[in-house]
Amino acid sequence: MKTAIIDLTYLLSAVLFIFGLKRTQSPKTARTGNVLASLGMLVAVVATLFLKSILSWPMIIAGVVIGGGIGVMLARTVEMTAMPELVAVFNGFGGLASALVSGTELSQHIAGTATSTFGLITSVTIALSILIGTVTFSGSIVANGKLSGWITGNPISFPGLRVLTVALLVTAAGAIGVMISVSGTFPTLSATMIQAASVLGGTALLLGILLVLPIGGADMPVVVSLLNSYSGLAAATTGFVISNTALIVSGTLVGAAGMILTVIMCDAMNRSLANVMLGGFGGGGDDGPSADLDIPEGKTVNETSPDDTAILSSYADKVIIVPGYGLAVAQAQHEVREMADQLEAQGVEVKYAIHPVAGRMPGHMNVLLAEANVSYEKLYELEDINSEFKTADLAIVIGANDVVNPSAREDEGSPIYGMPILNVDEAESVVVIKRSLSPGYSGVPNNLFYGDNTKMLFSDAKEAVASITESIKKMVEA
Ligand code: TAP
Repeated sequence: MKTAIIDLTYLLSAVLFIFGLKRTQSPKTARTGNVLASLGMLVAVVATLFLKSILSWPMIIAGVVIGGGIGVMLARTVEMTAMPELVAVFNGFGGLASALVSGTELSQHIAGTATSTFGLITSVTIALSILIGTVTFSGSIVANGKLSGWITGNPISFPGLRVLTVALLVTAAGAIGVMISVSGTFPTLSATMIQAASVLGGTALLLGILLVLPIGGADMPVVVSLLNSYSGLAAATTGFVISNTALIVSGTLVGAAGMILTVIMCDAMNRSLANVMLGGFGGGGDDGPSADLDIPEGKTVNETSPDDTAILSSYADKVIIVPGYGLAVAQAQHEVREMADQLEAQGVEVKYAIHPVAGRMPGHMNVLLAEANVSYEKLYELEDINSEFKTADLAIVIGANDVVNPSAREDEGSPIYGMPILNVDEAESVVVIKRSLSPGYSGVPNNLFYGDNTKMLFSDAKEAVASITESIKKMVEA
């Protein structure tokens, strides 16, 4: 009877995961999607702990209150721009938890307290869970360090790194081989099993570090997404180890979703996953204001002011706003919506062009603008808006850089050549709001800043947009 209830509960949580994931496809339904998937996880956790008599109700309630409390606090306090760092930590702990559960299962078999039999499948799944879970843990901690700045964002390499990585891979494969070979004689050869599992864990710890260190900070969001996929795989293999259907289903969903997202991100940057993983692209992406106002020889910069931008935008028929990472840093989303409201009140058509990798995480701009109650109908994907720049009187680029860099289209030698970009330079006029002439996250200089139809408004995005709105209001009142 208990088993039937557990199976039904797991089925319910699997249905909730799948419907939850489905609803995250659109920003409109994403919130409820998250709630459904979280509910699915809560049901699965409580059913496992309680119905399998692992823990008592007071312990479960204490766990939910403490764990849930930390989750709520983090979700409320972490800045949107720091979300990839947080996701990296979550992935890391997910991987570590999977490895620890498998290690515990192994030790229970060694102690003779395990309820299941130990065969080849158990040995293989325990080994894979320890390998993938531990690589995910150490790799995610390094990814967090690179994103938060306590490890340099520049690619870190040293002579012999690749050889060492291959040697570690061979050692890990050897340890797995030993674990499989003694599984038939287990528990007689338990000492060999413990040694092989320890070597595997240690090797995987180093592998995770060495795999992520040579990758530049610019590619960290892709790495985080890949590690997210690994954490799902680790959970799914652990599900096989402890015969837990909910873990297998949720782990597989996370593994598949993470992998799809990784591929989408690579496509949007026109890079292969191998190219990302081999590292060496981009730097740390220092968020601090840059003093780079040096104009390259032979180029000129047309500067503008908030007042002039207010005049230009008020007389426009159609304005396209292009948000980027700088908008997120400045937290200018509310000011941007207010500016758009003012323009629309004067009959100007305002649209937002959203590049798939603008910002630092998938959907970054959508989330920010949604926070400021910008209607989803006004947000246009790259392929839907790109042909419209030709008919726009003004494109206002706010804290975006790489995603509007024409060298991705024109310069075959550029590291970002081939990356689809928003063709803002095709608008009649372009105003770029940023603090300096410094390059974007990829470190590639941007010729847009020197275009004949481009005007630079050097300022913090929030201050600039607020000033433009003030000027528009004054013009209307005058
Ligand atoms: P970036 O190219 O990173 O440029 C952002 C610009 O914002 C900077 O040049 C900076 O210039 C400006 N900025 C920073 N703080 C500002 C502030 N307070 N006010 C005004 N401007 C400010 O941004 P993007 O165009 O959004 O491109 C995203 C980059 O991240 C791409 O290279 C993309 O490939 C990469 N990436 C994104 C993702 C995802 S999923 N979104 C994943 C992997 C990689 P100043 O210092 O001069 O102000």
